[in-house]
Amino acid sequence: MARIIVTAPQLMSVVNEELPGHEVVGGDHAMDRQELSDQIATADALLTSLSDPLDAEMISKGKNLKVIGQCAAGFNNIDLDAAKQAGVVVTSTPGVLHEATADLAFTLLLEVTRRTGEAERWVRSGKAWRYDHTFMLGAGLQGATLGIIGLGQIGEAMARRAAAFGMNVIYNARHEKNVMAIDAVNPNTQPTRRVELDELFVTSDVVSLHCPLTDKTRHLVDADALAAMKKTAYLVNTARGACVDEVALVKALKSGAIAGAGLDVYEDEPAITVDLLTMENVVLLPHIGSAALPTREAMSRLAARNIAKVLDGKPAETPVE
Ligand code: GLV
Repeated sequence: MARIIVTAPQLMSVVNEELPGHEVVGGDHAMDRQELSDQIATADALLTSLSDPLDAEMISKGKNLKVIGQCAAGFNNIDLDAAKQAGVVVTSTPGVLHEATADLAFTLLLEVTRRTGEAERWVRSGKAWRYDHTFMLGAGLQGATLGIIGLGQIGEAMARRAAAFGMNVIYNARHEKNVMAIDAVNPNTQPTRRVELDELFVTSDVVSLHCPLTDKTRHLVDADALAAMKKTAYLVNTARGACVDEVALVKALKSGAIAGAGLDVYEDEPAITVDLLTMENVVLLPHIGSAALPTREAMSRLAARNIAKVLDGKPAETPVE
């Protein structure tokens, strides 16, 4: 019987179903660094969340640790080199959350371009309004260009939604991607094409981030990128906060260098640069990209199944390579 530590709130009925016969500890609260460090010392496996600090020091405490089952698509909180050196398998949960996350990214796109947060705040505050031809005008999507940074599963799902709404899609990715599924959505949109980042920032009406956070993508959207964007353009971020220089973003939003932003993630999460809280042209969500119940259940199941397989001496279903 292995000892499995669940480091953060989890859908435990699902997790337990996948880990019969094991000692499963936690899952009802987020462990702080001290508790994690105490627990890891006796753990065979960890079922982790994206905010757990699994740095080299922490991993070195896991003397019996065999597998880290990250319950997220991203794993920038885990020192992969340290895990590899310690012989610890790391797994994540791709393949089950891209549609829900793209739903949320597209929600942000719609909200920020059609000013729905601002409009709802107006109504709730009791301010006077009546149907007025010139009231709360937002941007239109037909024929607008969506620039996607990172055309993995989530980026592709976002692109399909954009095409259905009549947007043309350009993307930046390390390699040319198969875009047939995107181009098949709408006969009226232009063929999806891969572009350099410079062109993407200059050309897009909406820029949406779907890349992992790495040394290369940290502050990928910086002051220069924001200055290159159209004054009428919007930024959507459901990837990782640190892909954007949040200080530069606030400046760009204040100066009108871009028209608005829809954010689900922040550089120093859960802290948010306070200036953002008072801006009408931003939509702010609390990192809920994949937070649809069936999606979260599928993620929990996959993370737990990965752990069960590795503990059983089998290959993980979705190892981080
Ligand atoms: C959420 O941000 C995830 O990486 O799954």
